Amino acid sequence: MPSRADNAKLTADQLQNMAALIEASDDAIIGKTLDHVIISWNRGAERIYGYNAQEVLGRPIWFLTPPERRIEVEEVYAAVTRGERVDRFETSRITKDGRFIHVSMVISAARNDEGQVIGHLTLSRDVTQEKERQQELARLSESVENRRVVLETANRVALDILSSRTGVEALRHIADAARTLSGAQYAALGVASADGKGLTEFVTVGLTPAEEAAIGPRPRGVGVLGHLLTRSEPLRINTLQEHPSSTGFPPNHPPMESFLGVPIRRGDTVLGSLYLTNKRNAGAFTEADELAVLALGSHAAVAIHNLQMLTRQRSLVSGLIRAQEEERRAVAYDLHDGLTQFVMASHAHLESFRRAHSAGNEDKAGRELEQGLRYLKEAVVESRRLVNGLRSLALDDLGLAGALEQLVAEEKARAGWTDAELIHNIAERRYDKGLEAAAYRVIQEALTNIRKHAQAKQVRVVLLEEMGEMERPMLSVEVRDWGVGFVPEDAARLEDHVGLQGMVERVSLMDGAFEVTSKPGEGARVRATFPVIEAAHDEEEIE
Ligand SMILES: Nc1ncnc2c1ncn2[C@@H]1O[C@H](COP(=O)(O)OP(=O)(O)OP(=O)(O)O)[C@@H](O)[C@H]1O
Ligand SMILES: [Mg+2]
Repeated sequence: MPSRADNAKLTADQLQNMAALIEASDDAIIGKTLDHVIISWNRGAERIYGYNAQEVLGRPIWFLTPPERRIEVEEVYAAVTRGERVDRFETSRITKDGRFIHVSMVISAARNDEGQVIGHLTLSRDVTQEKERQQELARLSESVENRRVVLETANRVALDILSSRTGVEALRHIADAARTLSGAQYAALGVASADGKGLTEFVTVGLTPAEEAAIGPRPRGVGVLGHLLTRSEPLRINTLQEHPSSTGFPPNHPPMESFLGVPIRRGDTVLGSLYLTNKRNAGAFTEADELAVLALGSHAAVAIHNLQMLTRQRSLVSGLIRAQEEERRAVAYDLHDGLTQFVMASHAHLESFRRAHSAGNEDKAGRELEQGLRYLKEAVVESRRLVNGLRSLALDDLGLAGALEQLVAEEKARAGWTDAELIHNIAERRYDKGLEAAAYRVIQEALTNIRKHAQAKQVRVVLLEEMGEMERPMLSVEVRDWGVGFVPEDAARLEDHVGLQGMVERVSLMDGAFEVTSKPGEGARVRATFPVIEAAHDEEEIE
């Protein structure tokens, strides 16, 4: 029930007097009639709204009210007129210079002696700054909260990467954090393939397994997702299907409207993207969402990079183990085909020697002994060759050029090439052991690859020391074949094949440059260029 005691009882005169009394108030105090005509205007009002009393007295009050607020304000006046209690409320008003300000306002009824309501007294205070501070505070606490989500995700992702084999969990956690940060219904993370033209990994969050199954195969990275891989800036779209790059959704795809795509970059390379769709409770994603997800994106970049390194390391290690196995098997074959054959042959001749000797056939005995000793000598040579091969002593003993001559000759015989030449200008030249080993191993693997994959007849190895830029001597290595050729980009993606990758690593460890060029049908060319490192003097041979 409205109570009259709630409202001030003032006559028109008293209203004026009252206004005069509070002339000095900081608040805006405005008296007006029931018809909304202003009849008093204090200095506070002048200060807050910018008009002086002469400009406004006698005018209807509505020039202060934003048009869309007018009905609301009229209802408040009506309620006060009816004697209802109206609490302090906040609204916006327009100042003389056209600014919108937030005011906190109280309205009371002005009554005559009979208690009839004859007008209103409004008291308003400019709370714009307070409001802005509140919003700033909210923004701050949101950004603190966002940072917490980002850091927590970064930590969790680091653990994921170390503990899981595939790292898909890590990607899923990042996508999930992006979803939280941006208030999206669905999130996904795509990892770009090495050539940056498609996606190798695509994880989603927000879809039920049934929904995911119904959608069918993962996107390949065409349409909007592909478009995003080519740009380094975030992309916000209000309605996905209206975007020029959209290729539409497959059937059974849940409806997706608003979209935020954030590229995950490391330097200039786009490693992948975060995709967010369907902003909750609102039409579109905002710039603040974009910034929050971008911060996460830089952590995601580190995660993806680590993941790639780890995958590569794992495949290198398993490649090494495989190589070791292969080497063991090769040693077994070599022992069987080489050493064992010589020893057996020698044994057989020595047996014949004994028989011939005890039969008194000294001629034959002499020949058999000769043969037996010859095979034994071969066996010694062969065993030395084996030891050299295992410990790569050839390189230490013969130097790079000498060891390569031996290697090329051996591979030629083994692979059955008709033509294998080695051209070089480094006879007798010795280098740093690491450099010699790197060059040797790169050439060795390139020759093995030719033998295994190229079906070539002709092979050429060129090894030249030349003066490079800034008078820096460089050692360049080129292994060329005229075999079936291949597509280097495809080979780079073979995860369990470590030959080419190993070459890249070896060369980069020596600060060199590496390049493979090949096309199907045109053979292949492997090139490595190393800065020359001289042999250290104290690296003299230790027996
Ligand atoms: N000279 C070449 N001619 C034709 N194809 C080649 C040649 N060199 C490499 N390749 C192709 O590149 C792929 C990758 O080579 P890489 O040396 O990395 O692995 P791999 O030889 O298959 O296995 P690994 O070296 O790990 O034992 C090969 O599988 C082959 O298809
Ligand atoms: Mg290989």
